[in-house]
Amino acid sequence: MSNKKILVLPGDGIGNEVMAEVLKIIDWLSKTRSMSFDISERLVGGTAYDKEGDSISDETMQEALDADAVLFGAVGGPQWDNVEREKRPEAALLRLRKELDLFANLRPAVVFDALAEASPLKLNLVKGLDILILRELTSGVYFGQPRGIEEYEPGKQKALDTQIYFDYEIDRIARVAFDLAKKRNNKVTSVEKANVMETGVLWRQVVKKTHEDYSDITLENMLADNCAMQLVRNPKQFDVLVTDNLFGDLLSDCAAMLTGSLGMLPSASLGAEIDGKRNGLFEPVHGSAPDIAGENKANPIATILSFAMMLRYNLNQQDLAKSLEDVIQKVLNEGFRTADLYSSDDQTLVSCSKMGDLILERL
Ligand code: IPM
Ligand code: MG
Repeated sequence: MSNKKILVLPGDGIGNEVMAEVLKIIDWLSKTRSMSFDISERLVGGTAYDKEGDSISDETMQEALDADAVLFGAVGGPQWDNVEREKRPEAALLRLRKELDLFANLRPAVVFDALAEASPLKLNLVKGLDILILRELTSGVYFGQPRGIEEYEPGKQKALDTQIYFDYEIDRIARVAFDLAKKRNNKVTSVEKANVMETGVLWRQVVKKTHEDYSDITLENMLADNCAMQLVRNPKQFDVLVTDNLFGDLLSDCAAMLTGSLGMLPSASLGAEIDGKRNGLFEPVHGSAPDIAGENKANPIATILSFAMMLRYNLNQQDLAKSLEDVIQKVLNEGFRTADLYSSDDQTLVSCSKMGDLILERL
């Protein structure tokens, strides 16, 4: 395999600690397997704002465009709450998504057997749960124009956001959903509000049309409010759930909580495949957890699983991805837990770096 260029953006808070554990694994892979990586590391988020004046600099953005994949930690923290919106830590993430055209956001919600008890839902509802939320990530109300806050009369204001979807944007995310379902349990639930929103009506129409190319996949349409309810009522009815940017934001948080362990959930944001290359950004679902930053207490598993997603979806290393995931299962089955997962004294409480070491030892 040729050198893969990976841009590492640890970000703020616990981002650095969790990313350090992935870097150990990358280092080991390049020493023991015939894999070589070109790693460069840059600032992003509030840390970048403090040192470089923006949450992502143009140079960093350019490196991201040139890289084969971006590994992202987490951004944000209370000290940047009052920074103007365009320079806030989150703005870096939105810029990366948009400029890399990462329209397909994969958010698996998987309940590991060893952790099923940690779910706030009853065990029988979540045991063995494995669903995949596919969120459209580069359009909809997050990016729609016009938007803004204006004065409509002296001293009075109005705010405007625009929810907009083009047919081709719906078609391409639907195709990703059907392709993913093929490799899973052949079912896609498409979620919108066609009863209220024009974008919902078009969404449903286009998904139906795209589905004609996938006769072996079952397609179901669901209204977003009902979907929120079904996710907690009977989550195992879902396989791949595809939805727009805003509903995907909400429903993926809901699905994440089903697993009871936010520190375990990875995500991948993918672009279209162009000349055999596909942009990808891989990040844990959890945030920067400023309250425990620097204490070596964070759970590195979500970030390591995000790296596994990178191996699977960007570097075509399915076997390696699988063995990394299996090793994580193993470490959990052996009873090792970081603080966020620790629940009884028959388990062994370990630090962030120790968890990374245990995983590496078993690889
Ligand atoms: C997410 C986050 C982001 C979003 C924020 C940080 C901008 O909530 O990735 O789900 O709203 O997309
Ligand atoms: Mg969110």
